[in-house]
Amino acid sequence: MVVLKSETEIATMREAGRIVANTLAAVAAAARVGVRLIDLDELAAGLIASGGAKPSFLNYHPSWAPTPYPGVLCLSVNDNIVHGIPDRRVLAEGDLLSIDCGAYVDGYHGDAAITVAVGAIDEAARRLADTTNRALAAGIAAARVGARIGDISHAVETVGREAGYGLPDGLGGHGVGTAMHEAPSVPNTGRADQGMALAEGLVIAIEPMLLEGGSSRCRTLADGWTIATADGSRAAHAEHTIAITAAGPVILTAP
Ligand code: MF3
Ligand code: CO
Repeated sequence: MVVLKSETEIATMREAGRIVANTLAAVAAAARVGVRLIDLDELAAGLIASGGAKPSFLNYHPSWAPTPYPGVLCLSVNDNIVHGIPDRRVLAEGDLLSIDCGAYVDGYHGDAAITVAVGAIDEAARRLADTTNRALAAGIAAARVGARIGDISHAVETVGREAGYGLPDGLGGHGVGTAMHEAPSVPNTGRADQGMALAEGLVIAIEPMLLEGGSSRCRTLADGWTIATADGSRAAHAEHTIAITAAGPVILTAP
């Protein structure tokens, strides 16, 4: 069921989104060579709590996962695409790190992700991350009253494919509200002018993931959560939670 949100609900989601954005910025600044992934997770836990919010991901247990999610953030390095679990691994020069964060305020969630460089990254990694940001921007620009879900999917896919990247099958965005994952799903591939019509009050997360190798194939690691590229090439991920309003898309997870 698709639930449209009132202005009041969207204002609460903006608060959750602000905390998510601030947390992402702080974690990005802390993501330096020699830092452990669990250190970043601990930093995020503290910031979300001190903002008066609660982490959305911790203990989240969707039907497809074998265990409740054990972290506050998802931290996905290099060939890990999404849902990487923070552990004692240490960041190294040149790593490409996706930081995904969710938090809720008064029961309403915000969900966003960025991909950042650890130290200096090579030109190919820079282009991958930049293109992922462009795909997100194109998806957001398509999220207007009167358009359809497929217009968002098509916009994201076009940016990714024109750059030669793969888009993983079955991974995409989603509605956001009192649950972190709500209807509708927002695929990263699809045809323009298809799917559900976008109405005022719809709140969705748009989250392109682009795979450097050009293949769309991925695999789930033994931890049951982490999704990695099948070919070992790197991935980048970017996400915002947005509200569709009469005045156009509003990014709720902006700083
Ligand atoms: N942005 C990610 C998604 O929508 C967040 C996943 S949280 C997790 O899939 F707990 F499921 F890992
Ligand atoms: Co999401």
